[in-house]
Amino acid sequence: MQPEDTLQQNNTQVSIIIPTYNESQNIIQILKSIKENLPKNFITQAIVVDDNSPDGTGRIVDDYLKNFKKVADYTIEVIHRKAKDGLGSAILKGIQQAKGDMIVVMDSDFSHPPQIIPKLIESIKKYQCDIVIASRYIKGGKIQGWSAKRKLMSKFATLIAKKGLGIDTKDPMSGFFAFKRNIIKELNIDAIGYKILLEILVKTKGVRIKEIPYTFQNRKLGNSKLGIKTILDYYRSVWKLYRYGKPQEIQEKRSSVKFLSKAARFYTVGASGFAVNYLVSLLFAGVVSDMWYLHANIIGIIASVTTNFILNKAWTFGDRDFRIKKTVSQYGKFAMFSSLGALVQLGMVYFLVDGAELAYPLALILGVMTAAFGNFILNKKYTFKEKITE
Ligand code: GDD
Ligand code: MN
Repeated sequence: MQPEDTLQQNNTQVSIIIPTYNESQNIIQILKSIKENLPKNFITQAIVVDDNSPDGTGRIVDDYLKNFKKVADYTIEVIHRKAKDGLGSAILKGIQQAKGDMIVVMDSDFSHPPQIIPKLIESIKKYQCDIVIASRYIKGGKIQGWSAKRKLMSKFATLIAKKGLGIDTKDPMSGFFAFKRNIIKELNIDAIGYKILLEILVKTKGVRIKEIPYTFQNRKLGNSKLGIKTILDYYRSVWKLYRYGKPQEIQEKRSSVKFLSKAARFYTVGASGFAVNYLVSLLFAGVVSDMWYLHANIIGIIASVTTNFILNKAWTFGDRDFRIKKTVSQYGKFAMFSSLGALVQLGMVYFLVDGAELAYPLALILGVMTAAFGNFILNKKYTFKEKITE
């Protein structure tokens, strides 16, 4: 090896990211074991990312660090997050704080044997690659201590990832891997759920990947945090990754879908307005005052137009800009279209019942639907200034 080469390697830093949630029984042991298995000739930084574990994991690490005998070229840090925000985002947080040019990600429950860490790092050099994955699903890899059900779930999830996302890595769901930090520099990582490696694999194109076998050991102490939410998050993230990099029409929701979903919201708001109208009209004509019923009904109408306006603005059309001038002018248009809608409805019901001899209940439904649809289009275009087909 050339002397410059050695020098370069000595300056290279490795950061090991260790997420924890309720790992009080494992964390100190794993930190000790990592210390025994540091990659040689590197400056290493271990970063524990704890999500305010109720069992005091974060505090235990703080106490341990008070008496931690410094070893040359090795430091440990803890990031204390306020709440359990998920494994992926914990790892991302650690990566953001990492100083290393190379990053290792691993669990804290001894499922990922620290003896593999030096191999992961050496393999990056040896195979000249960007990501090295400790793999359960290549020759020589194993899983110990998982039920048949959990194995099947893992296999199934892996299959979905490989087929759905066109990945040919054998273990894209591994939580144990190392990579060169610069490959994710430009990426926007969502870190939904557990599988941050999968996201990195989808979003980095053309990087060199190597898998090395290891035996995954189910934890002996503490509990797995994998629950139904994690599993749902997984499928949500696969769906999101599936859309990633696809043409714009697939990435963005199709405009027809948007149009229909907004129309559905507009109708829902309309139905809620009916309830507001009815209740307020009753209240003012009896409970809170004994107003003349027509006056009470006017208040009911104004109340429902107002709640409809606010809900449609904020929810249906996602316009959260409530500056007075703009909002008042929008409200004016909205109220005007509502009155117009009422007239259209009256006219239509009259025409259908008297002219076309339709039954009144049916005429009413058609009248309400038409008026609401007209209102939707007019408000979309003129009140909230959207293209009709967007
Ligand atoms: N900070 C933080 N926040 N850490 C978390 C959270 C969280 O919300 N959820 C889990 N962890 C930590 C755990 O403390 C543990 O160190 C590690 O993440 C893995 O969690 P486990 O609950 O032990 O996961 P598992 O053993 O079921 O799943 C493992 O196997 C999968 C392979 O199928 C993990 O290694 C996965 O990453 C891996 O993909
Ligand atoms: Mn585990």
